[in-house]
Amino acid sequence: MSIMPSEKSNSELPDELTTDIYSENIAFWDKAWNPVKTAYTQMPDLPYLESIPRNLKEHGCQSVLDLGCGSGWLSIYLARLGFSVTGIDIAEQAINLAGAWAEQENLKITFEAGDITSMNYAAGTFDAVVANSIFEHLTLNLAQTTVAELFSLLRPGGIFFGCFDQVGTGPGEYFELTDKTHVYTDKGRKGMLLRCFNDAELKQLFSGWQIISLETIESGSRLLWAKKL
Ligand SMILES: C[S@@+](CC[C@H](N)C(=O)[O-])C[C@H]1O[C@@H](n2cnc3c(N)ncnc32)[C@H](O)[C@@H]1O
Repeated sequence: MSIMPSEKSNSELPDELTTDIYSENIAFWDKAWNPVKTAYTQMPDLPYLESIPRNLKEHGCQSVLDLGCGSGWLSIYLARLGFSVTGIDIAEQAINLAGAWAEQENLKITFEAGDITSMNYAAGTFDAVVANSIFEHLTLNLAQTTVAELFSLLRPGGIFFGCFDQVGTGPGEYFELTDKTHVYTDKGRKGMLLRCFNDAELKQLFSGWQIISLETIESGSRLLWAKKL
């Protein structure tokens, strides 16, 4: 993994998100992925799936960064359609699985283990960023710094697509940070950060961008398309 939790100093983290809490969050993802031995090669049945490449093509996008790519389904889906894709995920095992799947299909995709809250891509590297079901696992502050970084790594006119799930936080064992991020403490999800973003927060997060569309689908997930001005 390229970013170790210990490299994040407390001063870079939002108020109550200590290095220990963040380390546990990263450990959660490693623990979740380590037992998985093959990639989930089924494309998910998402109502907006086909709109992703269609809109990317309409905006003339070729190079795409897939945030929190997991074992790679969205990267593979886009690469099959001819996009140049880079996938990044914090869990090394997810990246290994994604790499093996791409190799099997003879697709050239760059998969990298790394933390999307501290990426080091050069300014203007990508035409587009896709973020499916990943921002729910960041605090509000981390989402803000990540979106600022996305603004930099996109070329002018570059496109962002995100699906922000309304995750059922429900009863469970967790404590809450003041920004309403849940930090889970029960055995199955120990360390995982979970937070729902509402429309006002999404508009605020992307206030320096042109919001092309912001839509709530039946599941309650928000789909956001935005353009770097
Ligand atoms: C809910 S899964 C979604 C995976 C995939 N995008 C999808 O749509 O199926 C969240 C993914 O984000 C990764 N992840 C969580 N926090 C991350 C971070 N800070 N940086 C990079 N990846 C992260 C996890 O390892 C996991 O693979």
